[in-house]
Amino acid sequence: MQIGLLGYGTVGKAFYALVEEQPALTVKTLLTRRPRGVGCRETADYNHIVNDPEIDLVVELIGGIHPAYEYICAALKAKKHVVTANKAVVCAYYEEFVRLAQENGVCLRCTAAAGGGIPWLSSLGRVAQMDKVTAVEGILNGTTNYILSEMTARNAAYDGLLKEAQQLGYAEADPTDDVEGYDARRKLVLSADLAFSALVQEQDIPCVGISRMTVGDIAWARERGLVWKLIARAERKEGAISAFVCPTLFPASTPESQTNGSANLVSLYAERIGKQSFSGAGAGGWPTASNVLGDCLQIAGGASAFYSDKPVTPLPVNNQDAPKSWLFRSFGRYTVRQETAADAFEAYAAVLEADPGALLAYLPYGML
Ligand SMILES: NC(=O)c1ccc[n+]([C@@H]2O[C@H](COP(=O)([O-])OP(=O)(O)OC[C@H]3O[C@@H](n4cnc5c(N)ncnc54)[C@H](OP(=O)(O)O)[C@@H]3O)[C@@H](O)[C@H]2O)c1
Repeated sequence: MQIGLLGYGTVGKAFYALVEEQPALTVKTLLTRRPRGVGCRETADYNHIVNDPEIDLVVELIGGIHPAYEYICAALKAKKHVVTANKAVVCAYYEEFVRLAQENGVCLRCTAAAGGGIPWLSSLGRVAQMDKVTAVEGILNGTTNYILSEMTARNAAYDGLLKEAQQLGYAEADPTDDVEGYDARRKLVLSADLAFSALVQEQDIPCVGISRMTVGDIAWARERGLVWKLIARAERKEGAISAFVCPTLFPASTPESQTNGSANLVSLYAERIGKQSFSGAGAGGWPTASNVLGDCLQIAGGASAFYSDKPVTPLPVNNQDAPKSWLFRSFGRYTVRQETAADAFEAYAAVLEADPGALLAYLPYGML
């Protein structure tokens, strides 16, 4: 199978090296804005890839929305399979991409877009084909997990650790998407869309990040045998889903509490299979490129149009479900309340107006 590779950055470079070990795959042409001297044909003109009848598969690793969106659409319309690691573009254009893949009889896969090196989406897609997935949840952002783990281990403040995460290459120069939970929310949307054959709007999911977390919050949890994690969670309901992203407190003995550094841990719950969890490197050139390669090998082996061929239905987010336990920290006081997620996020928005540093946390185990 001949590949047109778009991008030669962290993931593109690792992917190129991995393909050289695969007899069934060849990178025929690389789209790059500057010469790389890699040994295959190099071009700055995408037409040399999309109009090449010998190229069967386009691997998009340039990131961002534009021109990635236009390149993916053009490839699918030209009846070329597409593999991408780009959560931003797949999340924004999920319905259109899945429809184009199905209409043109080609495959679209994006396993590296959620969970980096963990084969999460491909495993979720496999389970969604044979069982009814009822919920997905987990630690889906390595940057925030690194900061929270180090705050816990070293009693260090958020601001210094954010700078450290940037120096280590875990956090972007503009860390907003990571620390405010938007990156985890995009991965949750992709997971929920696939798990529930749904189309969920990113902005409908309430989201609280970790930027307001203090050393005092860490100490408060430690005294109670609890550990902070940023959790993204979605659950199937009748004609809707409940979903949110929120700092969450786990007993120290749970797998979530023991997932440290930039690692991810994500779980699915299905009616007959029960709970399955996946953990590993959520980012990094080699792990991410391995998942991209895995998608290419699936396609070379004859995978179907998308992970699941079930029709996709738009689903609203409705968080008016059974009351859960929530922790509010406002003006230095911690209060536990039992209410629906909808009420908790609404109350938190009001609390924030009075105390912009206030924090909301989910207590899945209640107060221990
Ligand atoms: N890095 C990870 O750990 C990780 C994990 C999971 C998913 N991903 C996803 O993987 C994708 C790639 O990430 P990355 O970390 O490899 O990014 P990166 O290191 O910034 O590499 C992007 C590459 O794409 C090239 N590029 C950008 N726009 C282009 C255009 N219009 N035409 C041609 N080339 C273009 C850049 O070229 P220049 O060098 O000329 O700028 C660069 O070589 C993103 O969607 C990201 O979200 C990454």
